[in-house]
Amino acid sequence: MTHEINSSDTASRGPGTKCGLSRRKFLLTSGTATATVMVSMNHAGADSHMPATVATYPRKKIATLSSLQTDVPVEFDYPDEGEYSSSVLVKLGTEAGGGLGPDKDVVAFNHFCTHQGGDLSGSYKGETKSLGACPLHLSTYDLTRHGILISGQAYQSLPQVLLELDGDDIYAVGIFGLIFGRHDNLQG
Ligand code: FES
Repeated sequence: MTHEINSSDTASRGPGTKCGLSRRKFLLTSGTATATVMVSMNHAGADSHMPATVATYPRKKIATLSSLQTDVPVEFDYPDEGEYSSSVLVKLGTEAGGGLGPDKDVVAFNHFCTHQGGDLSGSYKGETKSLGACPLHLSTYDLTRHGILISGQAYQSLPQVLLELDGDDIYAVGIFGLIFGRHDNLQG
């Protein structure tokens, strides 16, 4: 049984990201897909910090590697069935940042534009390996480079769903980047 996590990485999030953790560092340390949230509380004028939550992403089977066809997207919901959870899995046919499989070309992204939440469903373009243009303000994202913005109004990359291969089964195990409309990816 093979067991692989998409830890390859060659690109950064680019300017505008609000995440202080580089994608490389995140992927190198996110084997358990676990995030710890620190909450600042102010009591009687004194600041105190306490760990509030240890939230773990679900491990969800979303497809089999052998069933994928190049440039044919597969839609799925992750990390839950809630609003803005719609995502797309696609075999690009060319190596990509975070790509899974022997060709490192299978990637997955959330479907909602980071600018104002435009729905990018059905906008995958095989010629450019991109999602977009967004129906609201035309943002377009490069799926070979961690969903970085190619053009348009957005200033943050598209959230990338982290994938794991177990035999022929592809699992979603986490998300890098914040889903539009959420304060926490795990609170749908
Ligand atoms: S909502 Fe997509 S570019 Fe504005």
